[in-house]
Amino acid sequence: MTASDAILNVSDLNVAYGESKVLFGVGLRVAPSAIVACVGRNGAGKTTLLKSIAGFVKPRSGTVSFGGTDLVGRASYDIAKLGVKYVPQDKKVFSDLTVRENLELGSYSTQDYDWERVYGYFPKLRQLLDRKAGYLSGGERQMLMIGRAILGRPQVLLVDEPTEGLAPSIVTHLKDVFRDLSSSTALVIVEQNLPLVCAISSKVYALKEGHIVAELSRGESITVDACERYL
Ligand SMILES: Nc1ncnc2c1ncn2[C@@H]1O[C@H](COP(=O)(O)OP(=O)(O)OP(=O)(O)O)[C@@H](O)[C@H]1O
Ligand SMILES: [Mg+2]
Repeated sequence: MTASDAILNVSDLNVAYGESKVLFGVGLRVAPSAIVACVGRNGAGKTTLLKSIAGFVKPRSGTVSFGGTDLVGRASYDIAKLGVKYVPQDKKVFSDLTVRENLELGSYSTQDYDWERVYGYFPKLRQLLDRKAGYLSGGERQMLMIGRAILGRPQVLLVDEPTEGLAPSIVTHLKDVFRDLSSSTALVIVEQNLPLVCAISSKVYALKEGHIVAELSRGESITVDACERYL
C-alpha cells in the first residue's frame, strides 16, 4: 500500500507529556475498509497514539493525514466533524442523561443521525433509549459508546480497548460488529485480546515503550504467537 492509498496516514509522530516522551517516530497506515490493530503492554503509549490522532493530545512533531488533510493542530471536535471518531478507553458516559441523549451528543456537530444503523448493530439500545446512562451495565455502556460514534457515519473509527472487562458473549458480538462495520468504516483498534485481534485485523502494529517494533500483515500470518513475540 502506498501512502496515497491510505485513508489515514500517521507519520513520524513524537508525543510527550511535559518532559516525558511517550511516542517516538510512530507511523501507521490505514487503508479504507481495513481493521488495523495496535497491541502493546500497559503504558506502551497506545491510548496516547489514538488521542493524538483524535486531537486530544497535541504531538510535538509528525503528521496525521486523513484523506489528504493534516489533522495535527486541529481541535478534537473539528476532527470528529471531519469523520474521525474516537471511542475512549474509560467508557465515560453522561450518567444523568438518557441513552438517547448520550447517543445524540455524538452527532451534535454534524447533525447526521443514522439511527437504523445503530439499532441494526445494537438492537438492545433501542429498548434502553429512555434509561439514564448511569444505570447501564458495562456491556451496555460499551454498546452506547460505539453506537454514539457510528450514529454519524464516521470514515475512521478509533476504538480504545473495546472488550476490556466484558463477558465473552458481548466480545463475540463486538467482533461481528467490527467486521461488518469495516465494510464502510476503517477501524483502528487498541486491544489486549489477541485472539480477537488476530481474528479480525488486516494489519497489526506492535507498540513497545513508544516505538513501533513490528508491523504484521495478512499473509505473513497474524497469529497470537507472532503478536506475543513483540510484547
Ligand atoms: N496525561 C498524562 N500525563 C502524563 N503522563 C501520561 C499521561 N497520560 C499517559 N501518560 C503516560 O504515558 C505513557 C503511555 O500511556 P498510555 O495511556 O498511552 O499507555 P497505554 O498503552 O494506553 O496503556 P494501557 O494499556 O494501560 O491503557 C505511560 O507511561 C503513562 O503513564
Ligand atoms: Mg490505554
